[in-house]
Amino acid sequence: MKKPKTTKFKESVGIDIGTHSVKVVHLKRLHEGFKLLNYEIRPTVPVGVEYIPSDLRPDRFAPVIVEILKTLHINPKKIQHLVTSVGGDNTSIKQIKTIFLPDEELESALFFEAKKHIPISGTDMILDYQVINVEEKTNNMNILLAATSKELLNEHTNTLVTAGLNPNIVDIDSLAVANSFALNAFVEEGIYVLLNLGAHRTNMVIWGPEAKFFARDIPYGGYHFTRDIMRKRQLEYDAAENYKMEWGLLDDPSAAEAKTITMLDISEKSTEDAIVEEIRRSLRFYVKEAGNSDFRKVYIMGGSSKLKGLKEYIQEKVSIPTDVFMPFINVEMPEKFMDKKDPQLALAIGLAMRPE
Ligand SMILES: Nc1ncnc2c1ncn2[C@@H]1O[C@H](COP(=O)(O)OP(=O)(O)OP(=O)(O)O)[C@@H](O)[C@H]1O
Ligand SMILES: [Mg+2]
Repeated sequence: MKKPKTTKFKESVGIDIGTHSVKVVHLKRLHEGFKLLNYEIRPTVPVGVEYIPSDLRPDRFAPVIVEILKTLHINPKKIQHLVTSVGGDNTSIKQIKTIFLPDEELESALFFEAKKHIPISGTDMILDYQVINVEEKTNNMNILLAATSKELLNEHTNTLVTAGLNPNIVDIDSLAVANSFALNAFVEEGIYVLLNLGAHRTNMVIWGPEAKFFARDIPYGGYHFTRDIMRKRQLEYDAAENYKMEWGLLDDPSAAEAKTITMLDISEKSTEDAIVEEIRRSLRFYVKEAGNSDFRKVYIMGGSSKLKGLKEYIQEKVSIPTDVFMPFINVEMPEKFMDKKDPQLALAIGLAMRPE
């Protein structure tokens, strides 16, 4: 959210510091669009160690970033355009409407306005905003407010500095998700539901060229799918994680009947059900708030969008065509990456493509 520098960059690096995996994308700017120079996805937890969201301390991320940069031969001090992001409970983003205010009054007025809309205490809040438009008829302004807490931003900056980086632009996860989509999709109208399915949460964003912006986090992700499999199929963490990678929501036909669902499990809601319920609830809220229900498509991305059967499940339950989002339309892929288009990179690509 820091104001960007004005120099034009030739190369950019986007770093998505997820709790399960760090994703780094290195792009070269072309006359039009970008070219992928390299990327890397690396888990924050060693293989074989159970990923437990509440165990993850912030000092775990810097060493992973250092390793990745080494592998990609990127000198952290020489990055021209570094974009990272923060997310979670201490970030918030909301589109609001106010009466027209001149520039000099806008900032202080928005600060008070933000306190009403954003659940971060005033003294701890860092606020940024963007005027989307001024309505011709009413002269009202539509504004996108973005806020983080000072504490979260400090922790994030610390991670970057420890990894040898010079912090530059810090975005908010859900904005980067929207950016990734807006810069890599051909859409002229309608509303799109974007779901970045991570390990312990899912960023849900509602975006459209003319639509009201909406973002919230759904507190479920890959970790919860693994827990479901451990419980349902009576497997240890590692075996459940392997099962998840191979079968996702599908049944392994060779798995013994006795080890699959038992009567007891039926009373507990599955993660996919919980996610779908949250999506439906948010869509209802959005339709009421924005008065628009022109939903064209759901796009899923993030590591857990690769879960087999999930796309079909969401499509069936939400009744909107659903697809996995491949964020590479405006990113030229060298031959060696052609078969490696990975939706887990969506957010990092949105970061690396962010304009100055
Ligand atoms: N092929 C696959 N099938 C199913 N799940 C997968 C696959 N590959 C990765 N995952 C899951 O994706 C998750 C990691 O995705 P991602 O990197 O988007 O999360 P993260 O950004 O680290 O998490 P968060 O945003 O919640 O902090 C893990 O739960 C992992 O098990
Ligand atoms: Mg993530």
